[in-house]
Amino acid sequence: MTSTDHYLDRAVARARLGPARDRNPRVGCVLVAPDGEIVGEGHHRGAGTPHAEVAAIAAAGGRARGATAYVTLEPCAHHGRTPPCTQALLEAGVAAVVYAVPEPTASATGGAARLTRAGVAVEQHPHAASYALVADWARAAALGRPHVTWKIAGSLDGRVAAADGTSRWISSPESRADAHALRARVDAIVVGTGTALADDPALTARTPEGHELATQPLRVVVGRRELPAGARLRGGPSPVLHLRTHDPREVLRVLVEHGARTVLLEGGPTLAGAFWAAGCVDEVLSYVAPVLLGSGAPAVPDLGVGTLADAPRLRLVDVARVGPDVRLRLVPAGAASEPGPASLLPTTTRSLQED
Ligand SMILES: NC(=O)c1ccc[n+]([C@@H]2O[C@H](COP(=O)([O-])OP(=O)(O)OC[C@H]3O[C@@H](n4cnc5c(N)ncnc54)[C@H](OP(=O)(O)O)[C@@H]3O)[C@@H](O)[C@H]2O)c1
Repeated sequence: MTSTDHYLDRAVARARLGPARDRNPRVGCVLVAPDGEIVGEGHHRGAGTPHAEVAAIAAAGGRARGATAYVTLEPCAHHGRTPPCTQALLEAGVAAVVYAVPEPTASATGGAARLTRAGVAVEQHPHAASYALVADWARAAALGRPHVTWKIAGSLDGRVAAADGTSRWISSPESRADAHALRARVDAIVVGTGTALADDPALTARTPEGHELATQPLRVVVGRRELPAGARLRGGPSPVLHLRTHDPREVLRVLVEHGARTVLLEGGPTLAGAFWAAGCVDEVLSYVAPVLLGSGAPAVPDLGVGTLADAPRLRLVDVARVGPDVRLRLVPAGAASEPGPASLLPTTTRSLQED
């Protein structure tokens, strides 16, 4: 490991102290004197607060002069809610800047060029942990909204509930555990009021034994009907947002306000169909259970496909056996977005050989 990697690792560790769910990315900065001593460290504590570079400079005081700044993200060059970090670095007399991830947003880019023009030695150093730190934020910034994974648990014939509305449990305990691991990785879980009323879900991330995991997503219900007083969603460990709208883009806009970059859409068919029709699905995670229902709700309502040539196509990215079920991960054909949170699930939990 080079000393650059060492200092960037340390900057990542600092960055992780910042909020995981925020409008801004987590960023860390370490200031190192020419003799290798760390003279200041800082991280970003959330939108509207000083950026990591400014925090590190404040910690270093006069010792920032002549130091090298190691930053996980390219210093910004724009006046947002706070002044540009490039200006703070120049005023502090920092001699060199090493950053890992180039600034992906058009509004804040240009920091490295500005520092170079001012005579600072600037280097971009590829650093995997710094990229991982901002992957969700950068993907959402590119999409202009949170990334949406639509999860389906369906029968072999594509039904997500039986004729009487029961859907517990179509998929196996293994598939449910798999999906709970994903719940713990996303910022928000979204269902419609139809699902909230039919299933009374808790929408928490739990272990197979039913224990709540340490990281819980924001729980979101979409629709105009009220939840009954005793609904499980009225309790639980994380906030519940009830959005009385039918517009998926409005839902995602509100979720951006809450700092969400990744969303798990858990249905039901009406809401999922609306998200699909609005072009707001980036990834599909479909658990296909070896069961036939013959009737009951299909995974989506009528999409207006009159003939096969008009049917929306998806691209299969991954297939895995999960217990007795098959898990498919797909993206809409032609989708350009980066792999979503479901790509972090184990790719193959068991072989496809008959056992
Ligand atoms: N197996 C699975 O993967 C799975 C997953 C989820 C649900 N399910 C099953 O699906 C069934 C529920 O289906 P569902 O379609 O009623 O559930 P849903 O999609 O969760 O909820 C539908 C309701 O959401 C509101 N809504 C939000 N956006 C809308 C829009 N753009 N257009 C129309 N309505 C909108 C409406 O309620 P308001 O009148 O309140 O506005 C609507 O009645 C249950 O049987 C449940 O068990 C299965």
